[in-house]
Formats: sequence, structure tokens, C-alpha cells
Amino acid sequence: MKIKNLITAVILFSSGFGILNAEIIKLDTDKTSMVFKADKGKKLKHLYYGDKIQDSDLKNLTSAVGSGATVYPDYGMITVPETAVAMIHSDGNMTLDLRVEAVEKKIVDGKDVTSIILKDSYYPVSVKINYKSFPEQDMFETWTEITNNENDNIKLTRFASAHLPIRKGNVWLSHLHGAWGNETKVEHEPLQHGMKIIKNRNGTRNSHLAHSEVMFSLDGKPDENNGRTIGAALCWGGNYRLKIDTDETKNHSFIAGINEDDSPYNLKPGETFVTPELALTYSTEGLGGVSRNFHKWARKYKLMHGDKERKVLLNSWEGVYFDINEKGMASMMKDITDMGGELFVMDDGWFGVKYPRNNDKSSLGDWMVDKRKLPHGIKGLLKEADKNKIKFGIWIEPEFTNVKSELFEAHPEYVIKPENRTPVYGRGGGQMVLDLSNPAVQDLVYTVVDTLMTNYPDIDYIKWDANMDLTNHGSQYLSADNQSHLLTDYHKGLRKALDRIRAKYPDLTIQLCSGGGGRANYGLLPYFDEFWVSDNTDALQRIFIQWGTSYFYPSIAMASHISAAPNHQTFRTIPIKFRTDVAMSGRLGIEMQPVHMTLDEREQTRKAIADYKSIRPIVQFGDLYRLISPYDEKGVASLMYVDEAKENAVVYWYKTKAFRNEILPRIKFSGLDPEKRYTVTELNRIDTKPLSFEGKKYSGTYLMSSGLEIPVNHELPKDKRTDWSSRVLKLTAN
Ligand code: GLA
Repeated sequence: MKIKNLITAVILFSSGFGILNAEIIKLDTDKTSMVFKADKGKKLKHLYYGDKIQDSDLKNLTSAVGSGATVYPDYGMITVPETAVAMIHSDGNMTLDLRVEAVEKKIVDGKDVTSIILKDSYYPVSVKINYKSFPEQDMFETWTEITNNENDNIKLTRFASAHLPIRKGNVWLSHLHGAWGNETKVEHEPLQHGMKIIKNRNGTRNSHLAHSEVMFSLDGKPDENNGRTIGAALCWGGNYRLKIDTDETKNHSFIAGINEDDSPYNLKPGETFVTPELALTYSTEGLGGVSRNFHKWARKYKLMHGDKERKVLLNSWEGVYFDINEKGMASMMKDITDMGGELFVMDDGWFGVKYPRNNDKSSLGDWMVDKRKLPHGIKGLLKEADKNKIKFGIWIEPEFTNVKSELFEAHPEYVIKPENRTPVYGRGGGQMVLDLSNPAVQDLVYTVVDTLMTNYPDIDYIKWDANMDLTNHGSQYLSADNQSHLLTDYHKGLRKALDRIRAKYPDLTIQLCSGGGGRANYGLLPYFDEFWVSDNTDALQRIFIQWGTSYFYPSIAMASHISAAPNHQTFRTIPIKFRTDVAMSGRLGIEMQPVHMTLDEREQTRKAIADYKSIRPIVQFGDLYRLISPYDEKGVASLMYVDEAKENAVVYWYKTKAFRNEILPRIKFSGLDPEKRYTVTELNRIDTKPLSFEGKKYSGTYLMSSGLEIPVNHELPKDKRTDWSSRVLKLTAN
């Protein structure tokens, strides 16, 4: 067996392109390796994915997975458990027989990219399988490029991003599911025989219900800190399908990619279809290890400005809903300034000339300021923000229109709608999706942002919303033959518009929102700074929602706002202390009308903002350790962030149930330096008496092995006691 490691490959091909004369390909990150067998003229085989292996061990490496574990199983010639790629050739032949042709090694954006080129043994069709390595984060991104060199069109019917065979054992799947206002619930299940499919068919948004990210615990029941665990995230904003097939072979076959349902894709001669990336990571530190890898990779590569602190903001939505007016906006700006905030965001309701946006029934598409509500326009608001020394942000929903809008009246051909059908409308009974497969619509969407930013360059922040599914499958732009491209081309078109926006406005902060958490995905996040985690702002339910979201997304991206009591979604009344403590565990903001806040609420919020500013870098850039899951129903939930130097940490503790004489678990911390000594200080304190451990020093070892006993209730005068209890503790090494 001939072996050449990648160092040789880099030397051979540092000039760019070449054929690697190697049968074994080993890709490394700092702690992991992935190995393939790439014999020229044969099928590409997967050999290994896991802990880093030495080059000297390659010689005797036997496949951890079954010998039939092809990297990119193709349809037609032999029976494979599940296919990753299938097509109908220009002559009607439905078979593929992809074989290794060449291996390339390149450096792209400072990262190693290894590409294995497969060619069909008869037809001039090729598939390039790419792996980009992120050594420090222990991540790989893999995607494929399928090229048609036939003389006529081919039709792709399967075009997965990747296939990963996972050796059977006691493998468990962890994934997220939910609904609007109840996003990202965690579910763990053992993989059993048959097929598990996780999918989305919404068209525009893809994370309200299921999520395109999963984890596989290879050593039995998932554990937060231990066990070999693989994490995978499909980086795509559209419909996806993740399949895990468990048959009688040695492996679970995990195949992930765009959901091909209703979406066969025609490729003209010379055209290449590029699939979205599947991000893969592996850790021996259980679910938590995988999450931390995702967070680090996201902050560095998959999120806009992942290294910049986020501002504390007030968003107008739950405070005033559509009731936007100059006086109200000015008063909100003053109030958030008084409480220590740094940014005010004017939500829905500010636009529409012919049709004023007073509710969700009209005006989307008419991104012109309504002077009846804002006589001095956006300029006036920017001036007001400046006076308060805060920044200003604004809401848009640029991919959509209302039938009742000047845009729709001028361009009915821009909406998605099939011929011969009465359309089905979205939100408010009149919303429709703009056809982003059409370059004119891509231009329009770009222009919405460009016009705002050209007219008002001081806008600091945009909240980009998406409140409707892709209904009425039918493009007025695509040809009859290519109608099945719509679900894919919508998202390719959206990316094109976003590419232009980001090229011109690299510094702008943009929040990704979609009726709450409908668009938490790594396909779109590279263009955005953060996302609105859920329209549900109830602090108790947010603990669960944010817990699930944190499996794959870093806290810096998770917009988390203090809202009114009773809560507008659950009608639960939660004291301000608990509400602030939950919001402080993500990117802190406020989502209520300050005018309606009690004095106590204002004071507590002001304090929370000040305290948050003192821990902001730890929360936004630190490593997350989930300590006690709310899903385990132990009566408490707890999590913490630790900075890179392990000098500072913040611990959050929330009581999730109030039963008398219930013994709650002690909190054992994680991720600290055992040798260091940490002083414990309580933040956002309301108690009349300090905690017994306030200001005391403990070793990292003690805090991690014995932990601290957090009192069940707050120490408060009788008339202030409630059944709610929460704590934020800061640990400082000294
Ligand atoms: C969506 C968002 C909300 C708000 C409204 C405005 O529902 O999730 O935060 O912006 O739209 O209409």
C-alpha cells in the first residue's frame, strides 16, 4: 500500500493544482483525523474519522467502517444502502459509476482544501468532493461539485453534500425540534434499524421545526462532558434532508444535503452544481466538546464580526408593536439610554406611503418612511439617537411583499406564484414571497438595503425578518423545464443579494430573524451578526429554547431580550430578576415599553445592563459549559462561560421548579483551571444579605469537584418573596 501524507501533498502542490499519487489520504485537525482510500480507477472509500492518528499507524489501518463504505455512494450499478448522488444522463441512462481520478490539494483563505475528483467510467460527468480543514476548531467542511460535460442537459435527482458512515455500536442521535415560539427542543435517541429522516420543506425558513444540525454520541447515551461525539451541521438556508440509514451493514449511513423533494436540478453542458457545505466536528468531550468546537468555528468563520462585542439594545416590537410614532421612538431612545443601553431598534410599522403599515396586512415592499408617523423621517430619528449617544437600527423584511403595496402593483411578476392558480397568502392574509431566482428581484432586495444605507449611512443595525413560507410553488421567471429549481435557486439568489450587501456594507450589524428562530442556520449566518432566537420571550421557556440553541450556536449570536410581565406569549408573570438573569446569558437586549416598567423593573434592568457590560467578553467570547440541563428536570438549570485564559467565568443558575423541601443538586463547575483560585461574586443581586460564599476564594479543583450549594430562595423581605430564584456568579482568578 502506497502512503503519502498530506505534508508531502502540500509540498507537491503548493503551486496550486496537481494529482496526488496517493492511495491513502489523511486529513488532520489539531485533535482529529479523517482517512480515505483513494485508489485511482476505484471507488473512494471512507476508512476513519475520530481521534488524531499518527502517520505511522496508517500502514496497518483497517477500516473502522464496513468495506463497502463508499464516500459518495452513487446510484445504479450496485445496490448501496442509500445513495448520495443520482442523475439521469442526457441519453436517459440512470446509472452512475464514479471512480477516483485525481486528488488535489490547495490552500484557500489560508485553509487546506483537499479535493478528490471522481469521474464516471463512461459518461463525461465528474464529482469533486472537497474537504476544508479548520485545525484549531477540529472542524472539516465538506461539499461536492457536480459537473456535466455531456453534450446535452443532465438531470440531478440526488445531490447530497456528504455521506458519513458511522460504525455501529451504541450510537445515539441528538437533534433539535420545535415549533414557532417553542424552538430548539433537545431530543436524544438511540439509532435503531430503519431510517431516521430529519427534514425541512418550508422553502424560505428552515429551523422552526427541525434543525439541520445533529450530534452522534458513539459510546452510548449522550453525556455533556465525556464520550466520543460527532457533530454535523448543514450550512444551508433552504430545505434540507438529513438521513440516517441503519441496515444490516456495519454502519449507520449519514447522508446530508439539500432536500431533493420536488427539486430535481437540470445541468446544462459545462455547468457545475455546488452543494452546500456539511460541517463536521469530533470531540472526546461529549456534547459540550462538540458545541464548543462549533462555537469557536462560528465566531471565527461563520458569523459576521464574531470577534466584536455586541451592543445592549432596546427593540420596539413588544413595547409598541405597529404603533410607531416620533414621540414614542424618542421616548424609547431616551429610556434605553438612561438604563445604560447602546442601541435602539425600530421594528415593524415605520414604512408605507400609499398604504401605511399599521398591521400585517399591507405595505411590505414599500420601504419608504411613513411621514404621517415620522414627520422628520429616519434622519430625525438618527438625530435623536445621536443626541442620546446611542446607535440606531431598523426593521425590514425585504424578501416579501404584500398584495396591498405599491411594489406589488408595479411588479406582480416578482412574486412566486404558479400560473392558473389562485394564490395562497401568508401572514396577514396578503403576504407573498418575492422570487429570488429572478436576478431583478435579487437586485431589488439588494437595493432595499443599499437605498437605506445610502440615504442614512448612520444606520448601525438592521433587523432582517422573514415571516412566511414558500407557498405557491411556481416561478414566473424560471422556464417551464426548470420550475423544479425554485426551492434551490431561491436560496442561491438570496445569497447573491447578501454577497453584494456584505461587499458594500461589511461593518453593518444585521440580525437574522424569521418569526423568531426560523432561520438559525449556518447557510445564512455567515452574512449576519446574530439571530432572534424565538418570538417567545418568556424567561422560563427561554431557558429551554436557549439550551437547545447552544448545542450548535454561540451565545454571541443569540439575541436574548428582557420582556414584560405578564409575558406576551405565555402570559406567565416572572419577576424582573429572573427575566434579566436569563437574558444576560446571551446577547442582552430589552423588548418592552420602558414607560410601562415599574421603578423596580427599571432599577433592576439598569443594574443588569451595568453588570452585563462587566462580563460581556466572557459571555460573548467564552467557552460554554452546560452544567445541569433543564431537560433533566432536576429542578434547576445551570450553565457557565469561561474565558480562554481560564481567568474569568460567569455561572448562571435558574430554579425551574418550586417545591418545598426539594433537594436541589449542588452546582459543580466545569472548564476552570484546577490550580487557580477563584473569588466568587454575585452579580445582579437582589438579596438583603450576601451569599455565604460571596467574596470567598476557592480552588478550581474544589469548584469543579465539590461545587457550591446555591440557596433555594432569595433572602428578601416577606412582601417581596416569590417562588422564583436565579443567580449570576462571577468567578475571578486571583
Ligand atoms: C416577526 C419577528 C418579530 C417582529 C415581527 C414584526 O414576528 O419575529 O420580532 O419583528 O415580525 O412584524
